[in-house]
Amino acid sequence: MTESTTSDYAPPSARIARGEIRRASVKSFGCQMNVYDSQRMADLAALEGYAEAADVENADLIVLNTCHIREKASEKIYSELGKLSELKDERRKAGRRTTLVVAGCLAQAEGAEILRRQPAVDVVVGPQSYHRLPQLLREAQVRSGVIDTDFPAEDKFSRLPPSSREAIARRGAAAFVTVQEGCDKFCSFCVVPYTRGAEASRPVGAILEEIGRLAGAGVREVTLIGQNVNAYHELDSSGRPIRLSDLIRAVAAVPGIRRIRYATSHPNDMADDLVAAHRDVEALAPFLHLPVQSGSDRVLASMNRRHRVADYLDIVARARAARPDIALSSDFIVGYPGESDPEFRATLDLVAHVRFASSYAFKYSPRPGTPAAEMEGQVADAVKASRLAELQAMLEKQRQAFNRASIGRRFDVLFEKPGRREGQVIGRSPYMQAVFAEGHLSLVGAMVEVEIIAAGPNSLQGRIVSPASQ
Ligand code: 5AD
Ligand code: SF4
Repeated sequence: MTESTTSDYAPPSARIARGEIRRASVKSFGCQMNVYDSQRMADLAALEGYAEAADVENADLIVLNTCHIREKASEKIYSELGKLSELKDERRKAGRRTTLVVAGCLAQAEGAEILRRQPAVDVVVGPQSYHRLPQLLREAQVRSGVIDTDFPAEDKFSRLPPSSREAIARRGAAAFVTVQEGCDKFCSFCVVPYTRGAEASRPVGAILEEIGRLAGAGVREVTLIGQNVNAYHELDSSGRPIRLSDLIRAVAAVPGIRRIRYATSHPNDMADDLVAAHRDVEALAPFLHLPVQSGSDRVLASMNRRHRVADYLDIVARARAARPDIALSSDFIVGYPGESDPEFRATLDLVAHVRFASSYAFKYSPRPGTPAAEMEGQVADAVKASRLAELQAMLEKQRQAFNRASIGRRFDVLFEKPGRREGQVIGRSPYMQAVFAEGHLSLVGAMVEVEIIAAGPNSLQGRIVSPASQ
């Protein structure tokens, strides 16, 4: 894949020169990549002359960047669209035009079905073609129901305008950067290979340039994101293979970048070089989000995960040997088709063995077009609900234990915003815990050494140890 970092997108300067102020609201659902894509769509809207709307009622352009991973996510969007169609109608009566765009994975998966269920929608655009949003908006001026769910040959990143300094600064000192997209693994429960398409990595030069620009505008922490981020593979300018561990080392050398995270990883791509990066690269957070989904080998095989429980435990052991203070988090699915009670208990055993700092657990949700949706032995919702409650209770206990064990430790905290009480600032530890401390507002945006002095259910209290180091 080639990627130039200068955008070939030209702003409609005539409209901006006329001083027409229009406003856009981009709302993100679902994963971190949607947050990133939403920011890039907001950048495009800004070049089209749209200022950021303070609230959706005042937006002339409304973009919902949607998720399709579970049924609940999709239904939530249809109910939101119902409300927005009423808003659009009210605005029309007041003589104001509203353009309604559905982007993201629901758009990709359902396409024209969205227009059928909600005719107020003007544009449907998938995750691989949203760089064409300006043209699609222009088309929507002259005809209703514009759909673009292509997987175009051109690389969207090279067509997107870079974020402005102001936009970067507004978004804060921690940023996401997509480095890899799509998935070729086809886990039998998952829609991602169908909605995001085949696995592709972005060129290292373009990534480093983007991160350099972020750092120059005050970003101190980057999360390298991808559906299969540890499958990242590219070539450098001299044709040498670059893997995620190499990319992490290169990002660590970008002036201003103090902390690096990456998500989400698949166990089968957790190679030794990446484990070694956890040992060697100081800026790499000692935190690993590594979804295991189930603690049963039979369920893992049926899920097409292509590894066994023992392989997962081996990675955990290697990661802990490389970086003793590393903490783990995971995703779990309960009530996968055919999951028996003993198989569910095996998941609890795995959790007891590993001890996670935080995790996400979900009830299995059949997704149209995926193999698991057609499997026999679909589990009753009541069983899923009770398994989910039991697993979540255990994960929550482990999270609280991890938080309590943080008392007395010293963490680098990246302060993000003022705290709830005056004179406090709040930020994140290396382990993603919320940490608040007495401190001046000028600390927002800085990485500061903090000693943890108390642990509440949802946040830690800290005492600032070192003066701020930008
Ligand atoms: N049902 C429930 N959870 C799912 N996930 C992905 N697909 C489904 C599904 N059909 C979960 C997995 C994945 C996370 C992002 O969402 O745990 O790791
Ligand atoms: Fe979905 Fe599996 Fe790919 Fe993750 S690895 S995105 S769960 S298909």
